[in-house]
Amino acid sequence: MAIVSLANAKGGASKTTAALLLACEFARRGDRVAVLDCDPLACMTDWFRHGRNDGNLFVLSGVATTTLSDHLRRLRGQVEHVIIDLSGAADVLVALAIGLSDLTLIPVQGCVMDARGAIQVLDLIRHIENNARANINHAVLLTRVNPIVTTRAMRRVKLLLSENRIRLVDTPLVERTAFRELFERGDTLSSLDPAKVSNLAKAQANAQAFANDVLTLLSPTGEAVRHGPFSSMCYRSQHVSEPAVLPV
Ligand SMILES: Nc1ncnc2c1ncn2[C@@H]1O[C@H](COP(=O)(O)OP(=O)(O)OP(=O)(O)O)[C@@H](O)[C@H]1O
Ligand SMILES: [Mg+2]
Repeated sequence: MAIVSLANAKGGASKTTAALLLACEFARRGDRVAVLDCDPLACMTDWFRHGRNDGNLFVLSGVATTTLSDHLRRLRGQVEHVIIDLSGAADVLVALAIGLSDLTLIPVQGCVMDARGAIQVLDLIRHIENNARANINHAVLLTRVNPIVTTRAMRRVKLLLSENRIRLVDTPLVERTAFRELFERGDTLSSLDPAKVSNLAKAQANAQAFANDVLTLLSPTGEAVRHGPFSSMCYRSQHVSEPAVLPV
């Protein structure tokens, strides 16, 4: 089971869009996918309620700090992928999700405000790495990229990332009408009508290339996925504690 989180402290950075594209693409390939909706605004849950996806995918809503590791323990062996959609925060739930994940993606739009939200998450990752004395597998995902021109703001974000030696997902998510349309009636890229949605084939190819990059980031040389530093919380077997016996 591979666990991927989407985190950016700024709202509207494309976390839910990227989570949905990834989940739908893995499900389309025949894998079983669970999405954990950790956002009280529950956009992912709203999408799922339309019930138009193909059945390999389900969404668990209202996931909180106190329930996240329990959900992951229960999902072990039931699904191939867990995608965690986080809210625009850098709080305890985000820190826990990052520590439990095998890969954290930080979606960043080509604007400075967005980079600041990403830097808050990157600081949180450094903090966990220092305290847990372990590496956290993470990468920035550029989103809403103009398919035709590379804007100055986007070049600035790329420069900032490379100066700080932060890994970038090879495939950026392009600005596409299809990605917005998914949320209108709970569609997937396969259920949208190519006659009604412009550049649908290009959007599908973009999502497929993105999912391939994520699989490579999860296991770069094809070896088993290396789990996050808190993974023992969801991989250890259930421990039933013996009642304490007090001396009489
Ligand atoms: N690549 C894209 N192409 C077109 N529209 C996009 C793209 N990515 C995101 N959007 C649109 O941008 C808006 C914000 O995206 P999304 O909801 O995925 O962000 P978020 O980070 O999950 O926000 P929040 O922090 O509020 O949960 C949505 O209306 C979404 O449809
Ligand atoms: Mg969201």
